[in-house]
Amino acid sequence: MIRRNPHAYPIGIFDSGVGGLTVVNAIRRKCPHEELVYLGDTARTPYGSKAGETVVRFTKECVRHLLRYRIKALVVACNTASAFALPTLRRNLKIPILGVIEPGARAAVAEAGKSPIGVIGTRATIQSRAYPTTICRLQASSRVYSQPCPLLVPLVEEGWLKGNIPLDIIRKYLRPLLHKKIRSLILGCTHYPALKGLLARVCGSRVRIIDSAEEVAQELVNVLQTHRLQSRKKTAGRQKYLVTDVPEQFNRVGALILGRSLQQVQRVSMGG
Ligand code: DGL
Repeated sequence: MIRRNPHAYPIGIFDSGVGGLTVVNAIRRKCPHEELVYLGDTARTPYGSKAGETVVRFTKECVRHLLRYRIKALVVACNTASAFALPTLRRNLKIPILGVIEPGARAAVAEAGKSPIGVIGTRATIQSRAYPTTICRLQASSRVYSQPCPLLVPLVEEGWLKGNIPLDIIRKYLRPLLHKKIRSLILGCTHYPALKGLLARVCGSRVRIIDSAEEVAQELVNVLQTHRLQSRKKTAGRQKYLVTDVPEQFNRVGALILGRSLQQVQRVSMGG
């Protein structure tokens, strides 16, 4: 299909649920004129505790739905979906597709040099070894230490972003990585930027926190430029939010992440 004015089409953003709004935040800061269509698979979240093949199947279904909006590029904001589904998506689609693993890995290598790198994420992302594999492809001598942090997603979803309980949990999760004297820490999960303040406090000033959301937003700017797909609008781009379950929980947690209430959240069904 030949597209007229492809720069006028929206960017599709996919996540397993609400956490990908941290990526929306970063993209809106860097590309304020772009139209965005976000799809959160809230009916089937979390992906981080599921098998890789299930994650791939769900991701493909959601991306098929997003393609109805004639998206000009796709950002897979979910780390777990990026870890498992990117090769399949890239084989089958002709638009630029960005995941969060590579931009985060590149930033970590640039920052850490030869020092050890820490990665935190969901169980599925850590088990996939997507970050260590990508980092070692960029710099074979890198030492990467990974830690699944399954309690952090529920903490964010419950709005426990401050205080001693999240602080103690973060301390316990990060202790083994800090023992390895990591110099950069990749936040390998959509939800973790919401806890960046506490994570930075536990890590101390010698560890640089790598926020995959910021890194993928910068990569998107570069990709849109390379493909001459940047929006030519001068006004702020609109956003559309789609979810696969009732929107109440998405609205509640989304407002926490975005710092403002969400409008125009629409429930969609993957079948129809
Ligand atoms: N979006 C997921 C990720 O970044 C976290 C939530 C989930 O487990 O679905 O890995």
